[in-house]
Amino acid sequence: MESFVIEGGRRLSGSIRVDGAKNAALPILAACVLTEEPVMLTGMPDITDVRRMAEILRMLGCQVLHEGHCMRISGMEMCSHEMPDQLSKQIRSSIFMLGPILSRFRQATVTYPGGCEIGLRPIDLHLSGLRALGVSVQEEGGVIHCDGSAMHAGEVHLDYPSVGATENVMMAAACLEGTTTIRNAAREPEIVDLMSFINRMGGRVRGAGCATITVEGVGRLHGCEYAPMPDRIAAGTLLAAAAITGGEIEVTNAPVGDMYAVNAKLREMGCEVHELRDAICLKAPQRLMAFPLLQTQPHPGFPTDMQAQMLALLSVSEGTGVIVENVFENRFTHAGDLNRMGARILCSGRTAVVRGVEGLSGAQVTARDLRGGAALVLAGLRAQGETRVDGAELIDRGYERFEVQLRRLGAKIDRIHTLT
Ligand code: EPZ
Repeated sequence: MESFVIEGGRRLSGSIRVDGAKNAALPILAACVLTEEPVMLTGMPDITDVRRMAEILRMLGCQVLHEGHCMRISGMEMCSHEMPDQLSKQIRSSIFMLGPILSRFRQATVTYPGGCEIGLRPIDLHLSGLRALGVSVQEEGGVIHCDGSAMHAGEVHLDYPSVGATENVMMAAACLEGTTTIRNAAREPEIVDLMSFINRMGGRVRGAGCATITVEGVGRLHGCEYAPMPDRIAAGTLLAAAAITGGEIEVTNAPVGDMYAVNAKLREMGCEVHELRDAICLKAPQRLMAFPLLQTQPHPGFPTDMQAQMLALLSVSEGTGVIVENVFENRFTHAGDLNRMGARILCSGRTAVVRGVEGLSGAQVTARDLRGGAALVLAGLRAQGETRVDGAELIDRGYERFEVQLRRLGAKIDRIHTLT
């Protein structure tokens, strides 16, 4: 197992650039199989989830060359419509392959991606969306067989604006003759990026970023070159790292226009936040002020993927604040470990009430999910003494060499390998 060991109490400062967004890169990788021609991707985040997705594509017969931030994917030799079970379970976003595989083969077999620490992660909305396009779905023993032989363009209404379901339906419809309409679609920026990618391949998608998306099916898509949008959650996490240590930071290559909700909350806590064309500058006060209430919502509301980081900031703020997690049913897994460090967090269901404390004390804690793990690292940057965060592998899923980035900003943090 790998752990981060942090010596807290140091102000973070400096300038740092964010890479491509994990949650844009993963659906874009899935969409590469919509064409048989090669696709060149640059500016990809060098993270575990991208490497795992590349593995899934190879197991389906695709040729994938992967060097750091660059990838070349050729779906020409793709030969299987069956998702490898062990990999489907390892990475939630394997479910994004459903739409593209159906588009290529008119049939698909996937296993339930399974839940994770933050919730059950059902896929009913994915399946109902595909059924609206004429796909017949048989579920048996955790395996889902989709028959798309009678697939057609159509009207899809999502009961909830699910990011993954919106992306799956968009990809399934890209080459379906006729016009598909997706209503109550998710509006996340990563969906706009997926639309841009599909259109770069010759697709005709309109309206991503709004609640209604139209997909005019085209006969075939061609290869292209593309770079996914920058990662707004990685950018927000770096801003939070400076904020919790009373520091000052410039985050460059940031998707400024997609970060207003996060920047507004940081200002509410007393940070000076300046938004430039593609950079965000933050100067933190010595002590943050508690915001009264933060509610996570689908975009453009406050992003659930920044909730854990804000809980860490709230823990050391002056005053009392409340966080309501409206998107996932179990996303306060990090609260217990923050309390071990001296925080005063009371959780009940989807609500956390936090009474800010002056400081935290270093402790041995464990990452239970990607963003909760990042929050524990942020708390360690602030805490007096040494904090060890076990489960660094979970954080590597979504952050590229997190310790190197933080060290560049002045943190004292090392990665160690522990036997247990
Ligand atoms: C995407 O997950 C992101 N992952 C998540 O980021 C992000 O938290 C989430 O969107 C919300 O923004 C990727 O893009 C790879 P949803 P996704 O479908 O698509 C329920 C991170 O840390 N739901 O919008 O799975 C679901 O249980 C990760 O980077 C159904 O009930 O999110 C959840 O409560 C974590 N049925 C809510 O909707 C379904 O069929 C939102 O899920 C699908 C979802």
